[in-house]
Amino acid sequence: MISSQIQLASYLFASILFILSLGGLSSQESAKRGVFFGIVGMIIAMVSTILGQGVEGHIYIIAAIAVASVIGILVARKVEMTSMPQLVAILHSFVGLAAVLVGFGSYLDPDTQALTGASHTIHLVEIFIGVFIGAITFTGSIVAWGKLDGKIRSKPLLYPGRHLVNILLVIICIVLGVMFAKASGTDGMIYIYIMTAIASFIGIMLVMAIGGADMPVVVSMLNSYSGWAAAAAGFMLGNDLLIVTGALVGSSGAILSIIMCEAMNRSFWSVIFGGFGSTPTGSGKEISGEVTALNHEEVASLLDQAQSIVIVPGYGMAVAKAQFPIYQMVEHLRKQGKEVRFGIHPVAGRLPGHMNVLLAEANVPYDIVLEMEEINDDMPETDVVLVIGANDIVNPGAQDDPASPIYGMPVIEVWKAKNVIVMKRSMATGYAGVQNPLFFKENTNMLYGDAKDSVVKINNYL
Ligand code: TAP
Repeated sequence: MISSQIQLASYLFASILFILSLGGLSSQESAKRGVFFGIVGMIIAMVSTILGQGVEGHIYIIAAIAVASVIGILVARKVEMTSMPQLVAILHSFVGLAAVLVGFGSYLDPDTQALTGASHTIHLVEIFIGVFIGAITFTGSIVAWGKLDGKIRSKPLLYPGRHLVNILLVIICIVLGVMFAKASGTDGMIYIYIMTAIASFIGIMLVMAIGGADMPVVVSMLNSYSGWAAAAAGFMLGNDLLIVTGALVGSSGAILSIIMCEAMNRSFWSVIFGGFGSTPTGSGKEISGEVTALNHEEVASLLDQAQSIVIVPGYGMAVAKAQFPIYQMVEHLRKQGKEVRFGIHPVAGRLPGHMNVLLAEANVPYDIVLEMEEINDDMPETDVVLVIGANDIVNPGAQDDPASPIYGMPVIEVWKAKNVIVMKRSMATGYAGVQNPLFFKENTNMLYGDAKDSVVKINNYL
């Protein structure tokens, strides 16, 4: 057992480590250190909570942590890099579910029942709000998981009057909240059960209304919701560290969502209110023109003649695990005195920073990995752009086709380069399900096949 002063000091220390962790995660060079601070902070947080005053049943707590840790390690080891967003989404759902269960437990706790007057009412409001946010996070994250995993179709489910229905449901929840606060003893349980069912439904409908192209923002928004759910659980349990940690996750998730919305030219409010506003939902205008293809030898000779080369990777690079041979190609071309750089779109792949993580895994130096805004201006002077397993992020329709579902999303303007090679297996669409006029442009050639396979073959010719 530790005294409450020592616990408070440990909580303060853990909070500082969490802030340093978030700071570290903001750049690739310091990310590993950031993760380390986070792990140490979490260990301090757990140990000082378990050893705190009034905590009983240590054996059960340790057993639960041991079982959960084994499951966590097994799942994290097994998960493919391409399935990481799904894992993140499902983990958010656990935070939501935890907040709901903590809320139920906290309400039935004799200590809560013993409270009187304003402190009782405040505590009940904390419980009600915590369970409400938790239930939305729980079901919303499960739907996000289903959409990311392809188990639920990614097209938005929009029905007329849905915003009115959502507003009505929230009003019903507020009325239930008032009845809950007025109920005596544990009679309010029925109201909180009904509210949980309604909030769960709201969570499902909010995320169902969001289309594939907006999914990254939804995942980061749910990350934010899970933080607020944890903060609410912190209020219910009277745990300061949980409040601080929840607020850190909640606010950083919200900031990331805003940054991503700007990167995709989506209204932040339209995303959090589930497709509010006029997000285009068409399938894009008819595309005319001819698609031409090259073979590996021809692409190798184009690269051989080029002086400046830009590589734009996308989700297909992750699927094919092509980053390793790609880096071999880059090293070879750089040795010949060519300028070779990567252009990274903020939402390339399936999670924020997806491409950066893969390139770092293959030891690509950070200074040749540029962001979309940094590379776009250089496109007209670029001899060859290699688009490797990317589709939506290089779609010119985002700029000139108002009927396209991704209209307004900033894209890497690869078509402005002298030659564009698109490596993918077929003419299939990308995540947003829209055909890409880039493939039909005169200066674009396709190179069909698995990205890793193609790069290895090109390397052989080079
Ligand atoms: P996508 O538009 O999804 O296109 C990926 C392309 O890769 C597909 O057209 C596919 O074509 C090709 N591909 C798949 N496996 C391949 C393989 N083994 N070898 C070669 N090519 C392969 O990806 P993107 O351009 O990276 O854009 C990302 C999209 O995902 C955006 O719409 C974005 O909004 C969305 N999204 C992003 C995130 C985050 S946070 N990054 C999260 C969720 C959704 P083939 O089948 O013809 O090969």
